[in-house]
This record gives sequence, C-alpha cells and structure tokens, in this order.
Amino acid sequence: MSERNTQHPEEQKLLAGDPETTGHSWDGIKEFNNPLPRWWLWTFYATIVWGIAYTVMYPAWPLVNGATPGILGFSTRANVAEDIQRFEDMNADIRTRLTEVELAAITPEDNPDLYNYAIQGGAATFATFCSQCHGSGAAGVQASGYPNLLDDDWLWGGTIDDIHLTITHGIRNTDDPMARYSEMTAFDEILSDEEVASVVQYVRNLSGQEADATLAAAGESVFLDNCAACHMDDGTGDRFLGAPNLTDAIWLYGGSEEAIEQTVRYSRFGVMPPWSAEASDAGRLSEAEVRAVAVYVHSLGGGE
Ligand code: HEC
Ligand code: HEC
Repeated sequence: MSERNTQHPEEQKLLAGDPETTGHSWDGIKEFNNPLPRWWLWTFYATIVWGIAYTVMYPAWPLVNGATPGILGFSTRANVAEDIQRFEDMNADIRTRLTEVELAAITPEDNPDLYNYAIQGGAATFATFCSQCHGSGAAGVQASGYPNLLDDDWLWGGTIDDIHLTITHGIRNTDDPMARYSEMTAFDEILSDEEVASVVQYVRNLSGQEADATLAAAGESVFLDNCAACHMDDGTGDRFLGAPNLTDAIWLYGGSEEAIEQTVRYSRFGVMPPWSAEASDAGRLSEAEVRAVAVYVHSLGGGE
C-alpha cells in the first residue's frame, strides 16, 4: 500500500506526480481533479446524439392526442395490420373453399382441414358476437329467452342448414325480410281469466310439473282450440313456427305458473339480429364466418 494511506488524513500530503486537486478537502482528504476518461466521455456524447436522432426518426414526444410520429413513419398498429393481412392471405384459399363446399360436407371425415378451421374460427366468432346473449359456453341462460345451443332442443331446427339459415337471417328482426318469423298471439284480451288459469295448469301438466288436476283437465279444450295450431295437439311444438316444445323441461322463458301466464297473456317475441353482411345491412359477418360459426354451433353437441 502507498505511504499516503498509513498517515492520518489530517496530515495527507500531496506526493510528487499527483494530479491537481479541486481545492476541496474533507477532513483533510483532498479531491484530485482527474479528467473523465476519453472513452467514457465519447460514449456519453454518442448517447446524446443517438437520443436526439431517435426522437426525430421514431414516435417519441407525447402530444395532447397521440405523439410526434417520427420521420420513418414507424407504427406498431400498422405492423399488426400487416400481420393480420398476411394471415388473411394465408387463409384466403381455405376461406374460399369454406364458402363453396356444401355445408353438410364440412365434417371431420370428409374435410378435416376445413372442419378444424371452421371450428377454431367459429369458436372465436362465437366468443366475440354470440356469447353476450348465449353465454360463453353457449349454454344460454335458463328462462331468459336466450336459448341453450348445446342441447338437442331446437326452436327452429338443429341441422347444419337450419342453423346456418337462423344465423344468416336472424329471428324476428326487421332488418332482414328473410329472417325466421312468427308471432305468438297475446291471449290477454282473448281468453277469460279462468281459461288462462286452466291452460296454464294444462301446460304445467304437459311438462310433467305439479299442476291442479281439475284446472288442467279444463285446460285441455282451451289448449286444443287456441294453442295447438302452433304448439301441436300433443304440445311438442312446431319448428317451422319456432313454437317451442312444451312437453320437455327446457324453457325459453320459464315453466313456473307466473312465467307461463306471462307468456300466454302477453306473448314474448324473442329477437335475434341477422348476422350475414351479405344478406342484410345490419349483418356483420362474412359468409365464411357465418358458416364457420354454424359448424361450431352444430358441433357443440345438439347438432342433428
Ligand atoms: C342480442 C342477443 C343475441 C345475440 C348476440 C345472438 N343471439 Fe342467437 N338467439 C337470440 C335469441 C333471443 C334467440 C331465440 C329467439 C326465439 O325465441 O326464437 C336466438 C336463437 C338462436 C338460434 C336458434 C336456436 C334454436 O333452438 O333453434 C341459434 C342457432 C343462434 N341463436 C345462434 C347464434 C349465433 C351463432 C350467434 C352469434 C353469431 C348469436 N346467436 C347471437 C339472441 C341472440
Ligand atoms: C301463432 C302461434 C302460437 C300460438 C297460437 C300459441 N303459441 Fe305459444 N309460442 C309461440 C311461439 C312462436 C313461442 C316462442 C316465444 C316467442 O318468442 O314469442 C311460444 C312460446 C310459448 C311458451 C314459452 C315456452 C318456453 O319455453 O318458455 C309457452 C308456455 C306457450 N307458448 C304457451 C302457449 C299457450 C298456452 C298457447 C295457447 C293459449 C299458445 N302458446 C299459443 C307460438 C304460438
């Protein structure tokens, strides 16, 4: 060790060959005035130049709405759009085939690649456009008017062509004249209170629920006269009219006495928007997307 360190700081002395001091001294320790190393200084200047150049070339300074764009026109948004376009181009072929092949031929056996593409694309479309009404798992919400799409119970039909038609044009909407349409009569002004009470019990009985036997028996003729035209004599419903099967435990609006009475008196008129942009101005999906989501719904378990 050097001689200096062995001395008491108070007595620190400058030795021959020591650099200048800054004149500062703490408890006798003096500060050498060494110049910054060249390499350090030049690196420091280089970072300043680089920093200025960067803010000129790339988006940098925040403004009220956005930021300075930079002269290179770099944009992460444009990069994403480019990536999306690249994937669309890659999928263009398969999309075209998806719209041209017969719906019933989009199966794992006949067209495995198309089928897989449709299921994956359809699941994504479903999550974006359908789940807010039908639930993320497509199970609907019991008694909410939004049907479960997983079961075998179909209002309008469960073949791939039926499902495709329902999705393309929607149900009871005014935006697409081809939409599925029917209107249950509101019986509030047509039936007496006794007739309503009895037919409600008759429907309870049809679905195997607890019911007042006397009223239910009286309700049979009310049903046959007023309801069978749409729901059929045996209550199993009519898919051409979207009239639900009343003999199962699956309810669109609910099977309690109150819910059934509400339906009978005022009817319901459940609406689903049309989805095909080709069929209707209100539609938002391309034919390939409609087909993919139809295949997806059909695959969920209830498809016929
Ligand atoms: C705004 C709510 C809403 C959205 C969003 C919606 N639906 Fe529906 N959907 C309904 C209603 C309500 C019904 C039942 C209408 C009725 O009473 O017949 C229905 C019925 C259906 C049916 C007929 C079920 C049957 O039993 O016949 C299918 C299939 C269907 N939807 C598929 C879809 C698909 C696929 C999407 C997404 C592209 C979608 N829905 C988006 C409200 C919606
Ligand atoms: C003109 C055809 C038509 C007639 C007549 C009709 N219905 Fe309906 N009914 C429907 C349709 C369509 C629906 C689907 C609900 C909707 O969206 O309007 C329905 C729904 C129902 C539901 C709800 C089922 C559920 O799953 O929640 C009940 C209950 C019902 N009808 C009972 C009756 C009874 C009782 C009568 C006779 C008093 C009757 N309907 C007469 C067409 C009809």
